[in-house]
Amino acid sequence: MRRWRLLDLFGGVGGAARGYQQAGFHVTGVDIQPQPRYAGDVFHQGDALDFVREHGHRFDVIHASPPCQAGCTLTAGTNQGRTYPQLIPAVRAALQASGRPYVIENVAGAPVRKDLRLCGEMFSLRVIRHRFFELGRLHVPQPEHLPHRGRVAGMRHGRWYEGPYFAIYGQGGGKGSIAQWQHAMGIVWTDVRKEIAEAIPPAYSRYIGEHLLAVLTGATAVQDELPDLVEARR
Ligand SMILES: C[S@@+](CC[C@H](N)C(=O)[O-])C[C@H]1O[C@@H](n2cnc3c(N)ncnc32)[C@H](O)[C@@H]1O
Repeated sequence: MRRWRLLDLFGGVGGAARGYQQAGFHVTGVDIQPQPRYAGDVFHQGDALDFVREHGHRFDVIHASPPCQAGCTLTAGTNQGRTYPQLIPAVRAALQASGRPYVIENVAGAPVRKDLRLCGEMFSLRVIRHRFFELGRLHVPQPEHLPHRGRVAGMRHGRWYEGPYFAIYGQGGGKGSIAQWQHAMGIVWTDVRKEIAEAIPPAYSRYIGEHLLAVLTGATAVQDELPDLVEARR
């Protein structure tokens, strides 16, 4: 039987893609920029909304990580004078129109439903990196949020402070080496800081993907929302 197919919109370097692959999906990515280091199986350069409207229904599941600048506190100070399009409402409408189960990933300030909240500490990672997931026609259990073990490592007022976590955003000045970022995120196939900084740790999407595959393959009870999809694959 062919592998279940996942569409990864706004794929970037493929942090989300790699986790879904690890769970067992075949992953097709779409990004408006060339992504020569994309980690998924297939890559299309183009507009995510155009692609999902035309091809979304051909996939079993769709994941979307629209750019977070419009709702991101980390870039709020550098956003002055610039406006970022808020793509989430249009993305949600297109995902719902596709009829497929979907995941929209974003940050705390974004207008997504917070059906699932993930933190690096849940996966013993050296990043905190809270991310929020709106789940459509899909349920994923919420792991317990564990207390953070301390502060982030980095330069403050000219002095390096040790800590169990790294702050992974921006260009990295005083926030750890590239190797430290790669290992903290679980993203070792690129050494471009911007690509690591825009990604989610593959551990997050692996967690979501494993639950989703268990439902799709019948390893756990098929949920009310999914029987049409499972039936269509028989
Ligand atoms: C937050 S990053 C995605 C990170 C990715 N999910 C990961 O885990 O590595 C957002 C991406 O959206 C892309 N992007 C922005 N506007 C787009 C559009 N209209 N269509 C497709 N991709 C777009 C950017 O080039 C960027 O790579």
